[in-house]
Amino acid sequence: MRRLMIFGATSALAQATARRFAMDGSRFFLVARDRDKLAAVADDLRVRGATLVTVAVADALDFHRHEALVDGAFTALDGLDTLLVSHGSLPDQTACQQDVETLRREFDVNALAVISVLTHAANRFARQGFGSLVAIGSVAGDRGRQSNYVYGAAKGAVAIFMQGLRNRLHGCGVHVLTVKPGFVDTPMTAAFPKGVLWATPQQVTRGIHRAIEKRRDVVYLPGFWRPVMGVLRAVPEALFKRLRL
Ligand SMILES: NC(=O)c1ccc[n+]([C@@H]2O[C@H](COP(=O)([O-])OP(=O)(O)OC[C@H]3O[C@@H](n4cnc5c(N)ncnc54)[C@H](OP(=O)(O)O)[C@@H]3O)[C@@H](O)[C@H]2O)c1
Repeated sequence: MRRLMIFGATSALAQATARRFAMDGSRFFLVARDRDKLAAVADDLRVRGATLVTVAVADALDFHRHEALVDGAFTALDGLDTLLVSHGSLPDQTACQQDVETLRREFDVNALAVISVLTHAANRFARQGFGSLVAIGSVAGDRGRQSNYVYGAAKGAVAIFMQGLRNRLHGCGVHVLTVKPGFVDTPMTAAFPKGVLWATPQQVTRGIHRAIEKRRDVVYLPGFWRPVMGVLRAVPEALFKRLRL
């Protein structure tokens, strides 16, 4: 039984992960921007065994509310041991290249809002000496590609930030998990043609659940993405820059 706070609770990956924890009677503090979708997710978790579900409606870009939301989760759940940050958006790369305001908003959603929430929870977890901080990055954060380097840069920033956080918090018993999914069939990728590299949210969230329980540091999901990205990262820049990726 865990006490979980989830930002981006209406995301397909967050919902499928939360269902796995609901089965053992976990308690939840859910944050998302869409009130109706959030209510539906909360009802679903109650039916599946969650012993307490509290919700808060907030946009990830409401930076000034992040600290109060984290504090609210501690109060509502009578303590907190797991934070999952799952909100995200897939930017229109071309639009970001034309308009820096668009680029900045995408970077704020995918990087700075995640980093902000992690920072508030990290400080409280460090004080109490336990807890799991989990954020969903992406294989896209492992190497910049012309087709999506704004998204990739944001996910890469989160991964490096979490690496430092993990190093900082290791000595005080706090677990920091970076999840790096490959292609997953969710509303975010609804417009993409699907192929053999694609996974279902259920496949990926089985791995997220296991990685939280086993206190892993970084997981690629499905696991075949680890060697694939290892090869991609090893391609020399002089060659990589010539590829149309
Ligand atoms: N699907 C993939 O192939 C894939 C691969 C690698 C990583 N990821 C990452 O996995 C995470 C979950 O995504 P998903 O695949 O489950 O897609 P999804 O179902 O489309 O979830 C995206 C979530 O982000 C929320 N969101 C977007 N902008 C927000 C904002 N400004 N404030 C608050 N919430 C906001 C959306 O809220 P609404 O419901 O209100 O729109 C939605 O709940 C994301 O971080 C994504 O980058 C996905």
